[in-house]
Amino acid sequence: MTEPIILAIESSCDETSAAVIRGGKVLSNIIATQAVHEQYGGVVPELASRAHQQNIIPVVSEALRKANVAKKELNAVAFTRGPGLLGALLVGCSFAKSFALGLDIPLIEVNHMQAHILAHFIEEPRPAFPFLCLTVSGGHTQIVLVKDHLAMEVIGQTTDDAVGEAFDKTAKMLGLPYPGGPMLDKMAAQGNPDAFEFPVGNMPDYNFSFSGIKTAVLYFLQRQTKENPAFVQENLADICASVQQTLIKTLLKKLVQASLDLNVRDVAIAGGVSANSGLRKALQAYAPKYNWQVYIPAFEYCTDNAAMIAMAAHYQYLKGDFASQYVSPEPRMKI
Ligand code: KG4
Ligand code: ZN
Repeated sequence: MTEPIILAIESSCDETSAAVIRGGKVLSNIIATQAVHEQYGGVVPELASRAHQQNIIPVVSEALRKANVAKKELNAVAFTRGPGLLGALLVGCSFAKSFALGLDIPLIEVNHMQAHILAHFIEEPRPAFPFLCLTVSGGHTQIVLVKDHLAMEVIGQTTDDAVGEAFDKTAKMLGLPYPGGPMLDKMAAQGNPDAFEFPVGNMPDYNFSFSGIKTAVLYFLQRQTKENPAFVQENLADICASVQQTLIKTLLKKLVQASLDLNVRDVAIAGGVSANSGLRKALQAYAPKYNWQVYIPAFEYCTDNAAMIAMAAHYQYLKGDFASQYVSPEPRMKI
């Protein structure tokens, strides 16, 4: 089978997504975003599971229709096994298992974090091995040494909050609506990043910490609003730009260190926070200084999507790496 056709399903958090890939080329990538969480200011796990149940059949049908692929043409079905929310993962896992059983085709379990990195292989230009990937999402902050499509080593990670959480929690403190990260990014574009100073996280090796910055922002806001209750309102863009710059500096400091120590110049970013315009710009600005070849995914492949799951499944299919019908979700799955 030189050109396997695979249906992939992503349901780890609050996006229900399905994609079809043929011979490593993505034919469709349908994403249903769950608006139900907006009123709660964050993802409510039980509501996410229910919304996945409602979305999954229409999303899969649309992915097959758009790809112009019939069910009987499929060579395998892939799904996100973890990490993610247990109830949300269960929906995709159960659906994929029944689909594979009904069609009598192999099942492929995909690691969501590995898939975020493999999103770089959906389109040209593709990074060369080995490369470093800063994988930044709502649940993870890692520096990964990518030796091959399926051979990855986490060389550094956060010891507390993920950077996506730092974005989201700061946005919440500033009264910005959910989802906080993209809103903070938008506001930051109009502000002065040097207006206020926050501490850049400093952990040993290639590890990160974001809880200190979060607390520093909280105390700073409490102090300032005591003197001037309209402080946030009057300085919103500058606060956003300053916090964003601090988070980016914290991330890139470790990426630079890893690149110099390991002498790896191909550098990529992946995961939801790689959609951040400040991070994308900063990475490009660092490139000439450190002689980096940088890889930044297209916006649609930064946040959760099934195209990246399909890409991982493609390489797993070629290796004959299939799952059993007894597989269950793994909320804390590691790379
Ligand atoms: O990878 P992802 O879609 O889901 C997880 O696996 O967590 O990442 C979601 C995270 C959220 O924390 C969200 O606020 C953040 O990515 N995010 C952003 C931006 N777009 C998404 N953070 C900062 N700036 C953005 N433009
Ligand atoms: Zn993700």
